[in-house]
Amino acid sequence: MREAKSYPQEVYFNGKWMKPGEAYISVFDRGFMFGDGIYEVTPFYGGKPFKLKEHLKRLQYCLDQVQIKFEAFSLEALMAEAVSRAGLAEADAAVYIQVTRGVAPRSHFFPENIEPTVLLYAYKINLRGFETNPLNVLASEDKRWHRCDIKATALMGNILANEEAIANNFDENIMVRNGYFSEGSHTNIFFVKNATVYTHPEGPHILSGITRQVVIDLCTQLRIKFKLGSCSFG
Ligand SMILES: Cc1ncc(COP(=O)(O)O)c(C=O)c1O
Repeated sequence: MREAKSYPQEVYFNGKWMKPGEAYISVFDRGFMFGDGIYEVTPFYGGKPFKLKEHLKRLQYCLDQVQIKFEAFSLEALMAEAVSRAGLAEADAAVYIQVTRGVAPRSHFFPENIEPTVLLYAYKINLRGFETNPLNVLASEDKRWHRCDIKATALMGNILANEEAIANNFDENIMVRNGYFSEGSHTNIFFVKNATVYTHPEGPHILSGITRQVVIDLCTQLRIKFKLGSCSFG
C-alpha cells in the first residue's frame, strides 16, 4: 500500500486563500462534468522554483490548445506565496495549479462568457533515496487519446495505467503504443542502449516533460550520445 497523501492546509481558489474544506465548486463546473481543465505541477527544490518559466509556458500552451482564456504567468507570484504560506520555503515542495473552463449549463460546445475556475496550492515532496531506488515497472498498452501533449485534468487513461501497476506491486506502468514505449503513467522514460540515450520524440503521444528536456540538455552538455526515438517492446 502507498502512503496516503494529505490535504494542504490552505488553497488559493478563485482569487482567495482559504482552507480546503471551504473551497467548493459548482456541480456544473466543466472540470467536474467533463474533465475540461488543464493542470500543471512545478517543483520548488529547497524552496526555489525549478524551471518556473518552462512550466508556465507549458501551462499556457495547454490552455491555448483547448481555448481556455487565462494568463498562466499571472500565477507566478502566487506560486511562491503558496510555498511560503505552507511553511515550505526551505523544503522540497511542488505547486499544483488547475484551471478549468469554468461553470455553465452542460453542453459539449464551449459556452460563451465563461470565467475559468482556478485552484493552486503547495505541498511537500520527499526526494529521499530517489536517485538510487530501483523501480519495478509494468508494460501495458497505451490506451490514451492522441493529444497526450495536453496536460488535461481528464486523466482516466493515466490513472487506469497507474492503478494497474500499483495493484500488481509495480512502481510505474510504461505504456506501449504501436509497439513502441511512449511514456510512464506520470513520467517520461529514457533508455540506454549501446551507450546511447533514447527517449520518445515530442508529439501527440507523450507529455513534453520539463524534466525530460533537462535530461536531453544534460546529455548534450556532457557529450553523452543521445537520440530521439523510442525503443520497441519485445
Ligand atoms: C504523462 C506524464 N508524462 C511526463 C511527465 C513528466 O513531466 P515533468 O517532467 O514536466 O514533470 C508527467 C508529469 O506529471 C506526466 O504526467
